[in-house]
Amino acid sequence: MKKDLLKMLDLSRSDIEKILDMADQMKFNQRHNLPHRYLDGKTVVMIFKKNSTRTRVSFETGIYQLGGHGIYLSGKESQIVRGESMEDTARTLARYCDAVVIRTYDQQEVETLASFAKIPVINGMTDFSHPCQVLADLMTVREHYALLEGLNACYIGDGDNMCNSLIVGCLKCGMNVRVACPEGYEPAQEVLDFAAGVKDASFSLTRNPLEAARDADVVFTDVWVSQGKEDEAEQRRLALAGYQVNEALMAVTHPDCMVQHCLPAHRGEEIVSEVFEHHADQIFEETENRLHVQKAVLFLLMGGDPFED
Ligand code: CP
Repeated sequence: MKKDLLKMLDLSRSDIEKILDMADQMKFNQRHNLPHRYLDGKTVVMIFKKNSTRTRVSFETGIYQLGGHGIYLSGKESQIVRGESMEDTARTLARYCDAVVIRTYDQQEVETLASFAKIPVINGMTDFSHPCQVLADLMTVREHYALLEGLNACYIGDGDNMCNSLIVGCLKCGMNVRVACPEGYEPAQEVLDFAAGVKDASFSLTRNPLEAARDADVVFTDVWVSQGKEDEAEQRRLALAGYQVNEALMAVTHPDCMVQHCLPAHRGEEIVSEVFEHHADQIFEETENRLHVQKAVLFLLMGGDPFED
């Protein structure tokens, strides 16, 4: 039994489907005011070493709606910033709390936390992976098309944590994936190796955004300058300048193509305002679905119906 959600690579297709089905149920319960206090009396601690609006608020709200208690622990104020190890932090928190959410830079910190904590650990974003966001994206696309299998997904821009997680999540769900990124900004090798081994869906990596976007059913993008990369801002803006979601790119997609953006958006960089606003309902549905997906993950990992080994 898996006790954690650390990266998309760890999830099977049936794990993903189980989370999306439960997230749909959570959304229905919320919309119809049906009781779903599955975390009554339980406490979830949320460690944040990076800034957040959506992840922090959706987790804290979701924990409250499930009847639990969320504790926000700033990576800048706790003993972690003074050098207390992840190993000792994990063993301490597991004595008080029932689950941990962590947002940090290094994926290895999350893996270490999970291996030393006897309680579930959920990755709230690292430089390598953003599984909660991608599960919300898959939920939103599935709501729109009523299926995922066979859809054409396209990612334009930096081969970052979102790109890594989307490639894995979409391919595991039977979607075809095309990525356009400049040289030096490719997804992680571990992810490319995974993609190369997938037999029942296609994957390609190109330097040409129009080639990647042709006949796409959904276009994804992310900021050019992720948290922690601020020192490289100017060189990134130069390298990624041609990798923008704009009208010319949307013109080659399927006519009803969706646009998804994890936010925050930098209009005029990775996406132009006109395309963003045209697809704003889809983008903010994706934002809302963070809440429902994370409630599903919390419920499943904290005793509901854990994932397969
Ligand atoms: N998409 C996302 O993770 O948003 P925040 O950085 O605001 O949490």
